[in-house]
Amino acid sequence: MQHAEITRLKAEKKAVILAHYYQDSEIQDLADFVGDSLELARAAQKTEAELIVFAGVHFMAEGAKILNPSRKVVMPDLRAGCSLSDSCPPEAFARYRALHPDHFVVSYINCSAAIKAQSDVICTSSNAVKIVNRIPTDRPILFAPDRNLGAYVAKQTGREMLLWQGACIVHETFSERKIIDLQIRHPEAELIAHPECEPSLLAHAQFIGSTSALLKYAVESPKPTFIVATEEGILHQMRKKAPGKLFIPAPPNQNCSCNECPFMKLNTLEKVYHCLENEAPEVDVPAPLREKAFLPLQRMLDWS
Ligand code: 13P
Ligand code: SF4
Repeated sequence: MQHAEITRLKAEKKAVILAHYYQDSEIQDLADFVGDSLELARAAQKTEAELIVFAGVHFMAEGAKILNPSRKVVMPDLRAGCSLSDSCPPEAFARYRALHPDHFVVSYINCSAAIKAQSDVICTSSNAVKIVNRIPTDRPILFAPDRNLGAYVAKQTGREMLLWQGACIVHETFSERKIIDLQIRHPEAELIAHPECEPSLLAHAQFIGSTSALLKYAVESPKPTFIVATEEGILHQMRKKAPGKLFIPAPPNQNCSCNECPFMKLNTLEKVYHCLENEAPEVDVPAPLREKAFLPLQRMLDWS
């Protein structure tokens, strides 16, 4: 019933539903487009739909508004934030930048519009290495807010970077010991990990990439089994696209569901329905901030 109603409302309101891979499987299955952060930003910019329903977290919906300001952007639950984005408050970041005025500022897309507006270029986990490689070698780099992605990119590019010490609560939850135990029990398995994971875990991984890159790798690899170190929502697409393979979510330290993002999981199918029906809650960004944040975001899209 809800599915049919959502489809009807979508047509009536000329709406599009964009969903991140970390959404519940029923939301992914209903969405018009499912992707990683970069693909979702591109989809949001080029959509001709009048209403964008963003099933993801706040910085993603905010990004959609910045890239396509003439569209109305709504999200199922306005409280769907991000620990990584929250770890970088704009005033503290401005003070840090002021201490390093010669640095080229690269910000991971998982940050607020106020941080984007203070950045020279934005990156996502799928293009971060490419973006950093475009920066003139005589410019020192300040990378925010994810220290793990920053450390990974510094290693890949050989560039020295000052790292803001932010992190994602989900990607820092995995237990190295339990993963090693799993590898002993499944010697045929490959560990594939998102670069938001800690360097000590990444050191064990056979493949590191964004959610889309992990999905592509898992589908194309001849290996039959994968231990997946990222938010467990991505396993839905892996199992759909490679039904004969075994995908094991990397276990968290505690006996909890901490490998589920509590922010992403605030969105439910019912909230998607209400959000479409009411065209609320709306995500808006004041024009002056939007215009400042647009420049580094567009630079990212031009560079990647
Ligand atoms: P990607 O989908 O770009 O890999 O990002 C993961 C993430 O943490 C989104 O919040
Ligand atoms: Fe933020 Fe981590 Fe959740 Fe992604 S998984 S939205 S980085 S808290």
